[in-house]
Amino acid sequence: LWTTANIIEDSIARVREQVGTDQVMLGLSGGVDSSVVAALLHKAIGDQLTCVFVDHGLLRYKEGDQVMAMFAENMGIKVIRADVEDRFMTALAGEADPEKKRKIIGREFIEVFDEESAKLKGVKWLAQGTIYPDVIESAGSKTGKAKVIKSHHNVGGLPEDMEMSLIEPLRELFKDEVRKLGVALGLPYNMVYRHPFPGPGLGVRILGEVKKEYADILRLADNIYIEELVKWELYDKTSQAFTVFLPVKSVGVVGDARRYDYVVALRAVETIDFMTARWAHLPYEFLEHVSGRIINEIPRISRVVYDISSKPPATIEWE
Ligand code: XMP
Repeated sequence: LWTTANIIEDSIARVREQVGTDQVMLGLSGGVDSSVVAALLHKAIGDQLTCVFVDHGLLRYKEGDQVMAMFAENMGIKVIRADVEDRFMTALAGEADPEKKRKIIGREFIEVFDEESAKLKGVKWLAQGTIYPDVIESAGSKTGKAKVIKSHHNVGGLPEDMEMSLIEPLRELFKDEVRKLGVALGLPYNMVYRHPFPGPGLGVRILGEVKKEYADILRLADNIYIEELVKWELYDKTSQAFTVFLPVKSVGVVGDARRYDYVVALRAVETIDFMTARWAHLPYEFLEHVSGRIINEIPRISRVVYDISSKPPATIEWE
């Protein structure tokens, strides 16, 4: 019978047989797929697994700390955290073009992953969270994190004494099956059912040039938005919701003082396949409340707008 418990048992047996006593490395992003692979492999081979987590400073509010708390502290998994925010900000400085930004983020990501993996000795296997749709989908135009790691492996950037074979335990599974596996393996529901987050992270949600200052402001605003979506029980009714930082300034007033600060846009969509999407008709009272909180609690934001564009012709992300 093809139950979650059976899939787990079967995968564990297969992994153990495949890797024996070898060391395995996994690029952990904090996303569902790599998280489930981490939990699964840890259950199968324990300390033979080492995860590499690239914290590029373009993650959501406190996400890096949450990933470490979850996997390293809570589950006792070996996780190497590469804190490379400065490096990414430096690499992105002065670049405003969306595709060039994606390329820079992808390139830096591979380099960091390369450097960290080179420090690990005797690793024979590279684990990946490839799922069935990734297998059938031909390479898309936008680069995802999984694809980055994939190309990383393919370009052979690894030292020669570290030739690694691929291990992809989710290769035959659909997303909903992967989620069920995650819950059964003890991952928290809200992590497993989190909205998708693009590989380049906030790098494509800060329009134009990326700056740490912008990322910090955006994280605060987005955290309020997501927190309220959950509170109002709207999070699970939207397929993807996030905040976009607009590097333009707008005038406002606080008390007697005039302010001149940044603008953020709230985005929420409903979709089945992410190929087409309808903008979510969130209640006005909700939007009013979120806008009020963001403008009152974040000094550098003077205005909040809501994106009412569907896909097509607009894309879900702004870049
Ligand atoms: P768009 O903006 O193309 O987004 O309508 C469709 C879905 O893809 C995600 N997305 C990305 N994911 N790397 C990723 O891993 C990317 O460069 C990228 N760009 C968009 C987006 O978040 C949405 O879920």
